[in-house]
Amino acid sequence: MTAHTGPILEGKGSTDYERYVRVPELLELQKPKDKLVNPDEALFQTTHQAAELWMHHVDWEVGRAAGLMMDDPEGAADLLHRCRLIIDVLREQIIVLETMAPVAYHEFRTQSLGRGSGQESPGFKKLLEAGKRLWEPFQALLAARKLTALEIERDPRRNRECFRLVQAMLDYDEAFLKWRYTHMRLAFRIIGSKVLSLKGVPAAQLEAGSREPLFPELWETISTLTSEFKPTY
Ligand code: HEM
Repeated sequence: MTAHTGPILEGKGSTDYERYVRVPELLELQKPKDKLVNPDEALFQTTHQAAELWMHHVDWEVGRAAGLMMDDPEGAADLLHRCRLIIDVLREQIIVLETMAPVAYHEFRTQSLGRGSGQESPGFKKLLEAGKRLWEPFQALLAARKLTALEIERDPRRNRECFRLVQAMLDYDEAFLKWRYTHMRLAFRIIGSKVLSLKGVPAAQLEAGSREPLFPELWETISTLTSEFKPTY
């Protein structure tokens, strides 16, 4: 009897792995190696393509978390934890680009990137909306449970489910800020802080973004809680 080991899925590639992951199509999306301005351009394009895929995936999970929040706050917290881990992956992968000499970046920046800017990233634009998408169902949950964020912080044990959700929202927010901060340090390391981007935006503007939380009211609540505790000495 002959064993049937060949691919059974439709698609390009000689194995089901390649056909499912769509490896041939993915690799076609990369600039041919003989067209690269220099070898480091490959790292730059791969990093951005991978980031775009991950950012779109986070957007998908954020939508799921928003949908679950009212009926299953812990399920929403689990998904936000997943999103936070993905953002941590993005932060880790950005550091790889620090191994590139600034002059290598300038070579392909001036010859390949056109007027492209990270601000045009569709994935990033979606992630900037994540705060609003999650805040509305969170408010609806608080209204349904007749709770405020401050009451949750005052008594996490009594409001365990909601507290877990708040923690996951803060974790996600913090991961996103750390990613933005790490990207800012990368940009300063490669092009400096005193120059204009390809869109004419000062690179130093990245600093403001690394200080803008998605859930400012939650951070405000932590400060309010602190102000309620006065020293007794
Ligand atoms: C050589 C490496 C990099 C340099 C020098 C750099 C530089 C910059 C600069 C100067 C800006 C601000 C102005 C503008 O939009 O043009 C920016 C924005 C941005 N870049 Fe990069 N970048 C690098 C790598 C990356 C990577 C790997 C990603 C991955 C997604 C990325 C995503 C973004 C995003 C999302 C923005 C908008 C950020 C915001 O508005 O706060 N960049 N980048």
